[in-house]
Amino acid sequence: MNTQPASAPSTGFRAIDVIRKKRDGHELSRSEIEFFIRGYTKSEIPDYQASAWLMAAVLRGLTRAETAALTAAMLHSGEVLDLSEFPGKKVDKHSTGGVGDKTSLVLAPVVAAGGLLVPMISGRGLGHTGGTLDKLESIPGFRVNLTVSEFSDVLRQSGCAMIGQTAEIAPADRKLYALRDVTGTVESPHLICASIMSKKLAEGIDSLLLDVKTGSGAFMKREEDARFLAELMVETGEQMGKKVVALITDMDQPLGSLVGNALEVMEVLDVLRGKGPEDLRTLCLELAGWMFHLGGVSVTVEQGRELAAKIIASGKAMKKFGEMIALQGGDRGVVDDPKRLPHAKYKLEVTSARGGYVTSVDCEALGTANVILGGGREKKEDSIDPAVGLALHKKVGDQVGEGDPLCTIHYNDTTRAARARQLIGQSYRVADSPPAKVRALIREIIKS
Ligand code: URA
Repeated sequence: MNTQPASAPSTGFRAIDVIRKKRDGHELSRSEIEFFIRGYTKSEIPDYQASAWLMAAVLRGLTRAETAALTAAMLHSGEVLDLSEFPGKKVDKHSTGGVGDKTSLVLAPVVAAGGLLVPMISGRGLGHTGGTLDKLESIPGFRVNLTVSEFSDVLRQSGCAMIGQTAEIAPADRKLYALRDVTGTVESPHLICASIMSKKLAEGIDSLLLDVKTGSGAFMKREEDARFLAELMVETGEQMGKKVVALITDMDQPLGSLVGNALEVMEVLDVLRGKGPEDLRTLCLELAGWMFHLGGVSVTVEQGRELAAKIIASGKAMKKFGEMIALQGGDRGVVDDPKRLPHAKYKLEVTSARGGYVTSVDCEALGTANVILGGGREKKEDSIDPAVGLALHKKVGDQVGEGDPLCTIHYNDTTRAARARQLIGQSYRVADSPPAKVRALIREIIKS
């Protein structure tokens, strides 16, 4: 952690004044925002001042102009990749974060196997949600911290590469993201927009598909807030000359049946094998369909969806995933033998106290249970336990008998498992009748 407060002789700004101005609800100028982001990226502004500013931004909000300035300052904190040497369209997808949301790991190989280039810069777990990088790192040896030239080499050889923000690409987001994770400053549409769009615009892509989550496990719990965030990101991307489409999708319950880093990689392998839970498979095909459409490979989204299903059935997507794993230093053997992924030592069942139907789950609580087990971070310095997580046996609408298992906890630490068990037990609602309506997986499409 940095310890020296900022001084900014060249600009005349002081971090304390920028914090106070935002705290008091005033609009910051572009140069004040640039000063703050540059100072924090260079460690001239310490974590404690950045945390205070982030909290002020969450509570007071940012204007459209401030959001645009923040996105640009974060984007230009590092390099913007020039992928013009690669022929063909470059397309990517990003989710605003959910529980059990592992679609990126399916989409990158499927879409690359279909002929598009997928240069993906992803994030780690954030708050109660999981992160693509933590999931990938559960594959023994997998490196997410490639240099720009290594990233280009992997792209050249396999058509897809998945890395994190680095000291070279989107370094401001790398630092702010880790700080927001542990300071309760994730839930702001403006900060989420700047975080996502700064790293995605640094990728040198032509088009971007956004999966904006809504529901009890999303950062935007209400659909109208998800729509606001989707519109903000589509507008920001379009201003920067990119084709951007956002799908608003359900996060009222975890996606798929497995939550936790290695467990989610196992479920990804199931989907790439043509199996896997229905909701996860349906969403992956829909997102892939849109990516093919945006990249000009298919005329319609429906044709794109069919192409994605064919690519999975042919085994090409699984082959591509294995190729990318090997190129990024990982154990390609996990593709044929998922037992090579880390496994937790112990398992514990959470059972239903009564018979009936599952009418709802508190999806955020399930994500928090995974964090408590060690699948996410409670402090910046925490390391991840890749093996822990949850296997869900019942989802919303399912019938359940008294004493039936709702969920199995995979754990390595008994005290943590006890805390997680309590949270999980409280998060399931079981009633005599099924829920009136299970909410649709795909709610809305936002385009400019
Ligand atoms: N994903 C990101 O990359 N950033 C956020 O702030 C939220 C989700």
